[in-house]
Amino acid sequence: MRPDAREEPALPRDARSRRYLMCPPTHFEVTYSINPWMDPGKPVDLSLALAQWEDLHDRYRALGHTVELLEPREDLPDMVFAANGATVVDGRVLGARFAYRERTAEAEEHLEWFRAHGFTEIHEPSHVNEGEGDFAVTSAYLLAGRGFRSSSLAHDEAQEFFGRPVIGLDLVDPRYYHLDTALSVLDDETNEIMYYPGAFSPGSRAVLARLFPDALIAREADAAAFGLNAVSDGRHVLLPQAALGLFEPLRARGFEPIGLDTGELLKGGGSVKCCTQELRP
Ligand code: ARG
Repeated sequence: MRPDAREEPALPRDARSRRYLMCPPTHFEVTYSINPWMDPGKPVDLSLALAQWEDLHDRYRALGHTVELLEPREDLPDMVFAANGATVVDGRVLGARFAYRERTAEAEEHLEWFRAHGFTEIHEPSHVNEGEGDFAVTSAYLLAGRGFRSSSLAHDEAQEFFGRPVIGLDLVDPRYYHLDTALSVLDDETNEIMYYPGAFSPGSRAVLARLFPDALIAREADAAAFGLNAVSDGRHVLLPQAALGLFEPLRARGFEPIGLDTGELLKGGGSVKCCTQELRP
């Protein structure tokens, strides 16, 4: 008798080597609150934050990825969340425009970096978008979050600039204020994602179910542990170790989950993906 298809072990996946942009948390602290995770009364252990960030950085290097570094600025404590500073697809750079003035100056730091590193197609945005915080890239679409930070007009701007269809998704739970806190691309070639439905409006949930019927559906506890704030190279999925419920479902699909402790960075409302901007050639 043929074994049930579900019992066959998943084939291991192929990783693709990536180029990432990160910013060390040299000046990381929580002095203001612009998302529900941030409590300025809670002290940050800076040396622990640095060690957690370095662990992530070193993992990428050990997996064969290239990591570029942004110079941290003392007056910009959230700069460690480098994913928010731009979106790069096909070597084209869409700059960010932050929703809160506390982070406004980060956008220019990113643009400067791109200008100095040979990127020539750079678009300075007219509308609020927080980079990869709200834009997720698959081969077919640019998935785009809105509701708390990036605006719908920014979605149109991104579609025009990248020439890729943008799927606007409405975020409705303030704990999941950026798309990358609620959805993660696992394989950008085969359009496989994981997400937490509770973060989205009913209509957006229906859109996701229609476009990604085979998506890995995360439970609330794993979303709350920032398990969707993950980075995948197509095979290895780096994610907070506390998101225990995601490990087996990832393995069952042939991915290799790698759990990391990002507890200090969580005090700023970010984890693995927030610290990582992907520079797509
Ligand atoms: N404190 C930052 C903010 O609220 C955290 C950003 C997290 N980044 C992310 N890509 N979700 O803006």
